[in-house]
Amino acid sequence: MYIVFLGAPGAGKGTQAATVAGKLKLAHIATGDMFREAQKQETELAKQARVYMEKGVLVPDDITIKMVLERISAPDCEQGVIFDGFPRTLEQAKALDEALVKQDKMIDNVVYIKVSEAELLERLSGRWICRQCQTPYHMVNSPPRTKGRCDRCGGELYQRPDDTPETVKERLRVYFAETAPLIDYHNRAGKLLEVDGEGGVDEVRERILESLEKGSVK
Ligand code: AP5
Repeated sequence: MYIVFLGAPGAGKGTQAATVAGKLKLAHIATGDMFREAQKQETELAKQARVYMEKGVLVPDDITIKMVLERISAPDCEQGVIFDGFPRTLEQAKALDEALVKQDKMIDNVVYIKVSEAELLERLSGRWICRQCQTPYHMVNSPPRTKGRCDRCGGELYQRPDDTPETVKERLRVYFAETAPLIDYHNRAGKLLEVDGEGGVDEVRERILESLEKGSVK
């Protein structure tokens, strides 16, 4: 199965994709996490991406598409993938469709996690991330068991530099201008599963799993 998780910054894509991928035994490809991992090693990719990420705008399509197409050729993607934060532009969506078709594969479903703008702002302002494994926490909604430490790997938690109020505003503007049009693109292809992303993390996960079960029967 090849599934895309689509939604605004803070909608819960990363939170849900990690657990759903584990449950369905799929690889989890999160382009934001890949760019942040690259920053640790100071790679050429990291240098190119950083300037865009700091501003809250999209990294250019050629850089992003190349990175994802290399990643999906890895053996752990054979059984399927959950794409989290990719594709984010029409060009990325078309490139992914074409690459999968070449391997006799296709996107099965697109889970669109819908959350109100007020809730997105609340979630992003309270988010802390693990520096090592990128697991997201929320200081009120899903705090770690030990303050400042990741439950999964014990890594240090930090606030993303692009979660400042000004950069969040820009990320939301970019989302509505460049990524939200993909809702219509996937809907026309008959692949869109809209899920209410408000409510507790477990509740939203159940809705996603239920809608994937129904969606995949189509
Ligand atoms: P990226 O890292 O992909 O960020 P994003 O899409 O802005 O999404 P977020 O990670 O902010 O939110 P999320 O939906 O994953 O929410 P989360 O689960 O963490 O991208 C960052 C940057 O990288 C981009 O700006 C761009 O520059 C670049 N980039 C990445 N992909 C790219 C691409 N394809 N093309 C070009 N550039 C790209 O949850 C948020 C918070 O809410 C957490 O604190 C969490 O604990 C909490 N929470 C989650 N669910 C719930 C719930 N149900 N109830 C209460 N709280 C919840």
